[in-house]
Amino acid sequence: MRVAMIGTGYVGLVSGACFADFGHHVTCIDKNSEKIDQLRSGGVPIYEPGLDLLIERNVREGRLDFETDLTDAVKAADVVFIAVGTPSRRGDGHADLSYVYAAAEEIARSMDGFTVVVTKSTVPVGTGDEVEAVIRKTRPDAQFAVVSNPEFLREGAAIEDFKRPDRVVVGVENDTAREVMRELYRPLFLNETPIVFTARRTSELIKYAANAFLAMKITFINEMADLCEAVGADVQQVAKGIGLDNRIGNKFLHAGPGYGGSCFPKDTLALTRTAQEHDSPVRLVETVVDINDRRKAAMADKVIKACDGDVSGKTVAVLGLTFKPNTDDMRDAPSLDIIPALQKAGARIKAYDPAGALEAEKLLSDVEMTSGAYLCAEDADVLVIITEWNEFRALDLDRVKESMKGSILVDLRNIYDPADMKGRGFNYVSVGR
Ligand SMILES: NC(=O)c1ccc[n+]([C@@H]2O[C@H](COP(=O)([O-])OP(=O)(O)OC[C@H]3O[C@@H](n4cnc5c(N)ncnc54)[C@H](O)[C@@H]3O)[C@@H](O)[C@H]2O)c1
Repeated sequence: MRVAMIGTGYVGLVSGACFADFGHHVTCIDKNSEKIDQLRSGGVPIYEPGLDLLIERNVREGRLDFETDLTDAVKAADVVFIAVGTPSRRGDGHADLSYVYAAAEEIARSMDGFTVVVTKSTVPVGTGDEVEAVIRKTRPDAQFAVVSNPEFLREGAAIEDFKRPDRVVVGVENDTAREVMRELYRPLFLNETPIVFTARRTSELIKYAANAFLAMKITFINEMADLCEAVGADVQQVAKGIGLDNRIGNKFLHAGPGYGGSCFPKDTLALTRTAQEHDSPVRLVETVVDINDRRKAAMADKVIKACDGDVSGKTVAVLGLTFKPNTDDMRDAPSLDIIPALQKAGARIKAYDPAGALEAEKLLSDVEMTSGAYLCAEDADVLVIITEWNEFRALDLDRVKESMKGSILVDLRNIYDPADMKGRGFNYVSVGR
């Protein structure tokens, strides 16, 4: 099959490369010519483990190419994916659908023969209807069907998630398009991936419901962590004790600084807006959004409290800036709230992140970026772990302690053992323990 992927970001590039690896011919298109130039010359614009090799192999075998203009690829395509961004609209928190509709209009102008147009971007309920209307208006003669196929991949494990997903959700109300989608995902039938066919609106809502549920689970354990601190319990044992119950499950029960990233914050907010508009508010999710926003600010206070209430003139070394490990994505990362709050309180910030420094430098000011964890810790009064990259789990802690000026270590991801840290002479503060 021939696939055109409009938008070559975290989702479009991974999906495009994986579909090519399934054996389809894929053209990834992006308006950002720097990205396309980089891809054409063998580079990869994002950090995602394994993606470079996957792209290289599929380009070499002639199944994957890159364009800035969609005309030829859309003309030739059986399936066109829309994988552009849907960020929060400034001011009201609704999903900004302008990129989606602009892409739909452009696609319409180039479509030739029956074309399945698939929305892979995360879009509010009813967007498929609107995409259909845009295409119909632009090209009244066009033969097409609009399908919803939300993406559930996680950055950092994106290729594995795409190739071995828990499920694929397809919202489709046209029989030919259903068969096209079945054919596209046929390689996944081999490993018996459940493919859930639904009506289009249901599929659109499934994506938001999934993200809201996961955000709620994280927020639940974060509140339990605060309660643990207040009553002298251990949140990790609470998480284990409840997580072993199959009805609850042990995933997404790690207490931390609050969820961030390119999806949960904007998607939970957009869901609350959709629900309010339809006079059916999701108060649980509204509360989750509110608690999570407050939590990020509270994490800076936690660091300040660990320093006896004053970080003014102190050097705070931060390990991990991205919203989670194994990505360079800084969108809505907790570090973006915590660091400016510490700076406002007078702290000097040094930082190290294995992949996110370039992105972080665009979003933070007056931060001294260092090239390794030990360099970062050198002469620091306080060390704060914000993101749990694997390399921070195996640090030579005696070396870290020796090179620091102070002995305070605030571990917002609970990667170390409190008793061990105390034994090594750290003033160790973690979350919910
Ligand atoms: N990042 C994730 O982990 C993830 C996971 C699941 C779903 N999603 C959803 O997928 C969508 C894309 O997310 P992302 O993180 O890949 O975004 P991104 O910002 O990384 O990439 C979007 C790309 O689309 C390009 N673009 C915008 N308009 C275009 C147009 N008309 N023609 C060609 N290119 C255009 C942009 O230049 C950009 O490179 C969003 O709706 C997001 O919510 C993201």
